[in-house]
Amino acid sequence: MGIFRRKSIVTYQADAKRTPLKKAMGALDVTLLGIGVIVGTGIFVLTGVAAAKYAGPALMLSFLLASITCAFVSLVYSELAAMVPVAGSAYAYAYTALGEFWAWLVGWNLVLEYSVGASAVAGGWSAYVVGLLRSAGVNLPQALTAVPADGGLVNLPAVLITLFLSLLLIRGVHESVTVNKALVAVKLLAIFIFLFLAGPSVDTANWEPFLPFGWAGVSAGAAVIFFAYLGVDSIAAAAEETKSPARDMPLGIIGSLLICTVLYVGVTAVMTGNMSYTQLDNAEPVAFVLRELGYRFGSALVGTGAIAGLTTVLLVMMYAQTRAFFAMSRDGLIPQAVCKIHPRFATPHRITIIVGLAVALVSGFTPINVVAEMCSVGTLFAFIVSAVGAMVMRRRYPEAPRPFRCPAIYVTGALAILSCGYIMYNLSPMTWERFWVWSALGMMVYFLYGRVHSHEGQAELAKENDTSAANI
Ligand code: ALA
Repeated sequence: MGIFRRKSIVTYQADAKRTPLKKAMGALDVTLLGIGVIVGTGIFVLTGVAAAKYAGPALMLSFLLASITCAFVSLVYSELAAMVPVAGSAYAYAYTALGEFWAWLVGWNLVLEYSVGASAVAGGWSAYVVGLLRSAGVNLPQALTAVPADGGLVNLPAVLITLFLSLLLIRGVHESVTVNKALVAVKLLAIFIFLFLAGPSVDTANWEPFLPFGWAGVSAGAAVIFFAYLGVDSIAAAAEETKSPARDMPLGIIGSLLICTVLYVGVTAVMTGNMSYTQLDNAEPVAFVLRELGYRFGSALVGTGAIAGLTTVLLVMMYAQTRAFFAMSRDGLIPQAVCKIHPRFATPHRITIIVGLAVALVSGFTPINVVAEMCSVGTLFAFIVSAVGAMVMRRRYPEAPRPFRCPAIYVTGALAILSCGYIMYNLSPMTWERFWVWSALGMMVYFLYGRVHSHEGQAELAKENDTSAANI
């Protein structure tokens, strides 16, 4: 079988049963984890530029388009996460359905979503904190708040928040979930206050023309704001730590997607209904609209909401990254020693430190916005492979228990693949080039390390040796 050897679903289920991780989460925790990772930069930062430059008021449709794509994907993920409730999510599904090589490639590309995404978000977090402090009269020196390419020495706030959250993740899932809940409440409150204050002054005349950039603008807008939905899959990474994955996974994944879609479309409608989309071309559109309406505390309010929001995005992205690596190391594709579980906290402390340091280094010293679009391409790739995997699994393991069955899997799966492919097609050529380079690098790492150290591979070799010994 070589590089396409598969890990059997039975082995995965056994892994899930004897997991050293603590089963601490319920459906509500999982939904809040989802909202924690989904609502962030996308809504607080990207909406303004996306409306002004790409889609106009029809950005609402871009959000719907991206959300329909995610809905197909969520149904597929719900089936897979409930059926194979292990930490690796898309990586693990690919391993069972399509084989080790594809699994590795998915895992490698998830680094783009989780670690590169986390670094980008840490940079955004720092910008908001610096801005909020400045408006309170506290000016931090440029040397300590900007990366070298932007004339500073180090982006210290980004480094500090990353390291702090890593420590929280090591301390335990329960603690992380508690902090996540409180921060999700703050960011939701900021969004509700915005809708409450700006909602009544919506003037539908601002929605004319509705499609200033045509349907092409709606698609281009969907590619840009797809970032706002990133993370919807990382909920599945919690499958091994939920009390009842069969119930909690579908509820958490689909529930958080629904809630976020309503919020996104609502915020966009109110934003574009309050002023012409041409005026929204700035990095803090929510605060801008409130200020224009005369609510002077708007900026502080949204600043606080955004800081809380970005903190949870960062927390859950780093969490998902550590769990993906944990699953890969359990299979021998990366060294097992790095994913040892802490005896007291029951968390993979070493890999959490490594991920924390890597994200801190990148966000502290690199102009990360340059590669931020790569997050979407890596995620969309994982989505497509998972949809293919779910369909293959229906054929390969027709009898396996499926606590949640994706309706009309072959139609839903095909639609997931087509819609993700369409959004990928709308990403910039530069992003595609980087994606190929990153994937080629991943293949090199696999052939030099993973292929040789893979546990499945070693088991296969041992079996072959036994057979040849028996034949002698
Ligand atoms: N969905 C996350 C955000 O918008 C990544 O920040």
